Amino acid sequence: MRDTLSDVDSGHKSPVVLVVDDSKSIRTVIEACLSGIDCVFRFASNGPSALAMIEADPPDLVLLDVSMPGMDGFEVCRRIRADSHLRLLPVVMITARSHHHDRVKALEYGADDFMTKPFDRAELVARVRSSLRLKSLYNTLDSAEQVIFALAAAVEAKDSVTERHTRRVAESARHLGTRLGLSEDALDALYRGGIIHDIGKIGVSEAILLKGGPLDIVEQRSMQAHPEIGANIIAPLQTGSNLQPIIRHHHEWFDGHGYPDGLCGDEIPLLARIISICDAFDALINDRPYRAGVSVDEASATLAAGAGTQWDPRLIEMFLAEVPLIERMGAA
Ligand SMILES: [Fe+2]
Repeated sequence: MRDTLSDVDSGHKSPVVLVVDDSKSIRTVIEACLSGIDCVFRFASNGPSALAMIEADPPDLVLLDVSMPGMDGFEVCRRIRADSHLRLLPVVMITARSHHHDRVKALEYGADDFMTKPFDRAELVARVRSSLRLKSLYNTLDSAEQVIFALAAAVEAKDSVTERHTRRVAESARHLGTRLGLSEDALDALYRGGIIHDIGKIGVSEAILLKGGPLDIVEQRSMQAHPEIGANIIAPLQTGSNLQPIIRHHHEWFDGHGYPDGLCGDEIPLLARIISICDAFDALINDRPYRAGVSVDEASATLAAGAGTQWDPRLIEMFLAEVPLIERMGAA
């Protein structure tokens, strides 16, 4: 079904379903079975063209045949899942009824669901409806996430001195994560966590954030509340669950003297330990309201001196080896 005039007026957009099957007759059958669902169809007859279409304009659901000449459905699914931007794209794989092992393999390759051929029309409609409902929910969550990122940008805009600070932290943290061989999901969390790690500063007054001198004890307490405030802000966000530990624990110290929970050593989540180093380095080499930025060598010496007390010594060693590259990334 296509958009009605009133849909267009109300800004409603029908979800897009990409049907990937090398058999034209199967593609036609699927389209006919789903004719009662409010969606727009796109078709691909092989894996590479499906991937190109998904990359150019991601659909809301992929119905993916397993057995296709050349690249099979498993490989297509694996490549979709390897792209962190497509992690919320539902993929329903279509297997022959007799191939039970295909079902297990489909789930192992990251498919959300599977269907068997020949189709039961009612089952196909029900599964497609349920997948599109799920995608619609994901879209809502993603919008919520965009609000959070906009808030993070608003926090940064409060202080022009720290402009671009969060992006540099995000980029250097992701770089260090790559050197550590972390997973795509962890690298994605490092980048997003780097951007929003200080979002809790929205709850700290500008008089404190921009104060030109040292903070008194009350002001310090207010400033030190920002990790907890930030963690609470993103708590309702399901897609942000892996960001919460970064936000809450990015001011913990390796020796247990940090805040808010006084965690020490490996108790501090690894991604928070990484962000803590990248945050400190970038803060040191750039001007702050209360002091001028120091040279890269001085900042490196400060990090080295804090290895084992404030920061994870193993990570500091790795970070310092990457400083020339990180410095160039920051200047770019
Ligand atoms: Fe912070």
